[in-house]
Amino acid sequence: MTYKVVSIPGDGIGPNISEAVQRIFKAAKAPVTFIEKLAGQSALDAGHDALLPDETLDAIRSCGVALKGPCTTPIGKGFRSVNVELRQKLQLFAAVRPVRSMPGVKTRFENVDLVIVRENTEGLYSGIENRIAEDVVVSMKVATRRACARIALWSFKYATHKRRRKISVFHKANIMKMTDGMFLEEARKVSKNDYPNIEYDETIIDAASMRIVQDPSVFDIILCENLYGDIVSDLCAGLVGGLGVTPGANYGKEHAVFEAVHGSAPDIAGKGVANPLALLMSATMMLDHLANIHDDGECAAISARIKRAYDAALEASEKTGDLGGKLGTLEFADAVIARLS
Ligand code: NAI
Repeated sequence: MTYKVVSIPGDGIGPNISEAVQRIFKAAKAPVTFIEKLAGQSALDAGHDALLPDETLDAIRSCGVALKGPCTTPIGKGFRSVNVELRQKLQLFAAVRPVRSMPGVKTRFENVDLVIVRENTEGLYSGIENRIAEDVVVSMKVATRRACARIALWSFKYATHKRRRKISVFHKANIMKMTDGMFLEEARKVSKNDYPNIEYDETIIDAASMRIVQDPSVFDIILCENLYGDIVSDLCAGLVGGLGVTPGANYGKEHAVFEAVHGSAPDIAGKGVANPLALLMSATMMLDHLANIHDDGECAAISARIKRAYDAALEASEKTGDLGGKLGTLEFADAVIARLS
């Protein structure tokens, strides 16, 4: 049994790290057939007339699962983010970003084990911006009760499934009383009515940011609206070695897209030095997801085998430059393959 999965290499370092992951999947005999589709600048370069071609969306709708490399979005001008469009069009409303200490990667804290759950479809990322006078522009933060309730319920279900102890909402409802206020209301409702056995608390995001860099063990699952989740994910990545070791998944009711937290890293693109681990970790989350929905123990075992292999590579100091090592992207892939047992 193999599962069809859409592979979107993306831009910048994307094709290089995607190649590394596929090399490892092949060596591990992961039960996956990749169907390559384009998105981002690379789709335009290949002659498509859209950043997110219909055929890419249709392929994800048909397979249900995609592994995506990062896509470049210009700053302050140009086209809208292909990532935001993808998440909105497929209603991938829950972004999950596990952050954990990695063996052989020395950081300020040991045993960091956090999960950021981010509402992925609205907030300031709705992209509703207007110029209302020559020198005045506004950006609208959108919160709907439906989306706030949906992500709250999803987070508590996830916490139960993963046997986590606590959910903390980071918010700014003291200032954004209506939007963040609604986010809190819905989280409180689910906590009180449906999941009283899971610890629940709320922290204003500025104080929470300080707290998390002082002592990350205070938190377990962090639940945020869209923008806060984006920022807190990178902040937490810094606690465990950076963006090269922070995976992610975007879940909807029917589809799931797995991708690293990091972007297309234009500063190192084409040099063959990017760390493929965050995408590889996202790919093992994908295998766990496939194993879960198809009740496939073998698929889960292959995922565990890949995880043991990359942990062992890191323990042996086989690392890419961002983690203080000397290996290139594909050399790291080969170091993982050598440890598949
Ligand atoms: P970035 O994450 O691409 O890079 C930030 C820093 O981390 C850079 O110094 C980069 O070299 C380093 N870095 C990132 N990933 C790395 C890896 N795997 N191995 C080693 N070093 C790594 O963030 P930046 O520069 O803000 O964004 C670049 C582009 O990526 C932008 O166009 C942005 O919109 C896009 N982006 C796309 C995302 C996605 O497709 N999901 C997510 C975040 C940003």
